[in-house]
Amino acid sequence: MGSIDYDERIPNNVDLASDRRLKRALEKWQPDFLQWWRAVGPQALATDEVYLRTAISTEPGGWANFGHVRMPEYRWGIFLADPEPDRVIPAGDDAGAPVWQEVPGEHRNALKRIIVVQADTEPASVEQQRWLADTAPSLYDCRNLFQVNVEEARHLWAMVYLLHGYFGRDGREEADALLTRRSGDPDSPRILDAFNQPCTDWLTFFCFTMFTDRDGKYQLASLAESAFDPLSRSCRFMLTEEAHHLFVGETGLDRIVRRSAQLTRLDPNGDARAQGGIDLPTIQRWINHWFSYCLDLFGAEVSSNAADYFAAGLKGRYREAASYDDHAALGQTRTVPHLQDGALIDKEIPLRMAMNEVLRDDYITDCARSLERWNRTLAEEGLSVRLELPHRRFFRRQGIYAGQHFDLQGNPISAAAFEAHRSEWLPTEDDQAYVESLMKPVYEPGRMANWIAAPRKGIHGQPLDYDYVRTDH
Ligand SMILES: [Fe+2]
Ligand SMILES: [Fe+2]
Repeated sequence: MGSIDYDERIPNNVDLASDRRLKRALEKWQPDFLQWWRAVGPQALATDEVYLRTAISTEPGGWANFGHVRMPEYRWGIFLADPEPDRVIPAGDDAGAPVWQEVPGEHRNALKRIIVVQADTEPASVEQQRWLADTAPSLYDCRNLFQVNVEEARHLWAMVYLLHGYFGRDGREEADALLTRRSGDPDSPRILDAFNQPCTDWLTFFCFTMFTDRDGKYQLASLAESAFDPLSRSCRFMLTEEAHHLFVGETGLDRIVRRSAQLTRLDPNGDARAQGGIDLPTIQRWINHWFSYCLDLFGAEVSSNAADYFAAGLKGRYREAASYDDHAALGQTRTVPHLQDGALIDKEIPLRMAMNEVLRDDYITDCARSLERWNRTLAEEGLSVRLELPHRRFFRRQGIYAGQHFDLQGNPISAAAFEAHRSEWLPTEDDQAYVESLMKPVYEPGRMANWIAAPRKGIHGQPLDYDYVRTDH
């Protein structure tokens, strides 16, 4: 296991050659995928040579092969992490029993829904990001954008393999539908709200890869603990790719923060905008917007679906097998404050019903670590202001806090008080217009746009002025 067959039309390590029906079905889906990629995938520099990594083996350290590739010729394939010998169901009522290699009838619909919702996010983000190369702040960043794009498209392949391979005709129909929904389309939108939000500037792109791809990390990690072993193995390999997306987001924002601090100090009035930078209050508003949107992706605080999925072993907690001793999660509760008559009242929720909240905790801790890093950058640059994560109750549109109003610290406030602060807390149309006015392409190797600091080092040991994208410009 592990090595990938590149002689196949669809590179894979799932022995596709031995399953002719499945192979034919996927080969039929492949041209539709390529048509989708050309129509709504990257639209600028779309056929230039890009320094990309391609999976050539799933073994640790051996799966990333770097070279210049034209994106339409990228080898998208189907790769599962190697099976864990004697793997048992990590979570729920059957924890400890052997994992499933086929889908049990009673869990078929739930598993299909879980896979479709995950799958839908992958092409959605490619669609959201399709114009960004037009305004790339450097070739280094442009290359990273394209790396993220081709890998999200590969994640689509990973999920489509599961739909085709394990869910028969309705799986194939779902795979077709994944290529017909469109991010932001009023008639046929993507399933989750954050994946219908426009992503037309690079501050948004870095917030998206920081916060939304990080949500993806936690969703994949929870599915990596699934009793359905092919799903677990798919997600484990996707997580290795996802790490780079998170790197792009966290370091991209760190570089914007650093440059913002430098320009703030440079300006006689401490105004980074006057120096052509993105000021820290604007960065904070972008953080507030994207963090709160991404918290919604974890689902309701109190959820019987979450309890059912956990009980059935369809999902586990973050690092369920490795980090927990008790995998039943019975006889325990989790405190979830509810707003009642204007006051927050603690309610004890059975732990299984609060699994979305448990996963959200791990996500918030992870995001807070990135904030600390950016704040160290501010300190290094000699500024005393700091960035903060808003409270988990702030500006939510899903779950028990939706439709209510809270300040950045999570205190309940009136709708009028929220509106009075809105332009201080969330991006305004003026902010958006200002940020977009800065978006001008920089295609000269090694050069950076004025509003972003250079990264510490290049990709895969290459220098910063490497020709990461061979443009004709
Ligand atoms: Fe992905
Ligand atoms: Fe990603």
